[in-house]
Amino acid sequence: MHLKLNLIAAACENMGIGMNGDLPWRLKSEMAYFSRMTTMTKDPAKKNIVLMGRRTWECIPKKYRPLQGRINVVLSSQSLNLGDDAIVCKSIPHVIEMVSQYPLKDKVEKIWVIGGSSVYKASMDSPNFYRLYLTRIKKHFECDTFFPPIPNNFTLVHDAEVPTDTQEENGIEFEYQIYEKK
Ligand SMILES: NC(=O)c1ccc[n+]([C@@H]2O[C@H](COP(=O)([O-])OP(=O)(O)OC[C@H]3O[C@@H](n4cnc5c(N)ncnc54)[C@H](OP(=O)(O)O)[C@@H]3O)[C@@H](O)[C@H]2O)c1
Repeated sequence: MHLKLNLIAAACENMGIGMNGDLPWRLKSEMAYFSRMTTMTKDPAKKNIVLMGRRTWECIPKKYRPLQGRINVVLSSQSLNLGDDAIVCKSIPHVIEMVSQYPLKDKVEKIWVIGGSSVYKASMDSPNFYRLYLTRIKKHFECDTFFPPIPNNFTLVHDAEVPTDTQEENGIEFEYQIYEKK
């Protein structure tokens, strides 16, 4: 079983993804897109994993944590105990190994990598990388966290689940893009 990593991120013109432990923008429809993409499964008996770095986990407001309807997995070098809320893993290969074994093997449909920076970078470098779902927000925001450079051998593709036209909310335009490795 070859497990694929799907990345999902939103970045502004200067490739920023975060500011002061939060998103630099409020885009409800983009948030709804994130929830829909990471939650939906073809097999109703299965769930998707949302894989994130420890800081991204801490940045999710407590009332929304764990992200519902999904198996939350947090990457950390520390021995954290997040109880029933999330599984803690030490590395991406550790996550792949865990998901390829019982009991998760038959319960997981997709792995969605949801940030932040170093987790996106490690996932794009991984042999298990499959796709990057990147929302391009067509505005400049002040940020302290950035999406890593997209490798030159990534190419744009289409996905029937994803709108191709330019979106707009609160006067901010954005576009959903999907990249695969050539
Ligand atoms: N716009 C977007 O799409 C988006 C998405 C996600 C997050 N964000 C924003 O980004 C910011 C948070 O992201 P961040 O880049 O600062 O932090 P992050 O990547 O979420 O977390 C970093 C931490 O994760 C752990 N980690 C990362 N890679 C690891 C690996 N390969 N193996 C083991 N542990 C690993 C380490 O935890 P330990 O220190 O515990 O070892 C590391 O300190 C926030 O502002 C958030 O709002 C934006």
